[in-house]
Amino acid sequence: MTKKLLNIVVFSGAGMSAESGIPTFRDSNGLWENYSIHEVATPQAWKHDPDLVTKFYNQRRKNILESIPNEAHLEISRFESINPITVITQNIDDLHERSGSTRVLHLHGNIMQSKSSGPDTEKAYYDINSWELKSTDKCPDGYRLRPHVVWFGEEVYELSNAAKIIKEADILIVIGTSLQVYPASGLIHETNPDCKRYIIDPKCEEMIVPSDFVKVNSSASAGIKTVLENIKKVLTKG
Ligand SMILES: NC(=O)c1ccc[n+]([C@@H]2O[C@H](COP(=O)([O-])OP(=O)(O)OC[C@H]3O[C@@H](n4cnc5c(N)ncnc54)[C@H](O)[C@@H]3O)[C@@H](O)[C@H]2O)c1
Repeated sequence: MTKKLLNIVVFSGAGMSAESGIPTFRDSNGLWENYSIHEVATPQAWKHDPDLVTKFYNQRRKNILESIPNEAHLEISRFESINPITVITQNIDDLHERSGSTRVLHLHGNIMQSKSSGPDTEKAYYDINSWELKSTDKCPDGYRLRPHVVWFGEEVYELSNAAKIIKEADILIVIGTSLQVYPASGLIHETNPDCKRYIIDPKCEEMIVPSDFVKVNSSASAGIKTVLENIKKVLTKG
């Protein structure tokens, strides 16, 4: 007898990659390497000092390239052999893909790609094949290339695609996000009324989420193991 597959969606944030050694935003008090977000992660910052912004993201890319997927990324990708999982991530790292997950939507961009800094930023994305984006790298239209990252104050182009995916979820698993960054955080409210919802985070007890959320007060790797084991039992019971 063929078993019915579930529509499982993981919504991940910076805490997902913490065990891979990539600092979260909150844990660094909103500072990365002593830079404030306004100096390096806004369109104004790029206008003011594109070399500083490029250097900042080159350092982040170097750190990400030196990191490897952790057990939480791997648990999710391995589960695809039992039931597909769609990952919607706020992370700009590529650790979900490197762990083997095949359905990954990046809400805030992908640091391993660049795009035009001209008027048509979303026309095309270009792979960056090393840690370094150079100040001389240009798109075919002649504009300087910038990291493919959604900065504070910019439109989140993938938001409606993400909302569509979440609306169809039977199970939503939120992992490692403080739910402080809008509009991404609003996505947890897009589920249908029958969707089973989990939140995995060592600080989840302090978080304000709808009362039906099952709070798993744990690291990403331990929490996802427990949650996926429970889902596996339901799936194999048929
Ligand atoms: N890896 C990355 O790509 C990366 C890293 C830092 C920030 N960012 C960006 O900055 C923004 C920050 O928002 P956010 O909500 O994703 O992150 P956040 O820094 O605001 O929150 C991180 C959350 O992860 C939790 N956490 C810490 N360690 C954990 C662990 N081991 N397991 C599970 N959870 C853990 C924290 O308690 C916190 O709730 C996002 O838009 C993201 O794109 C990305």
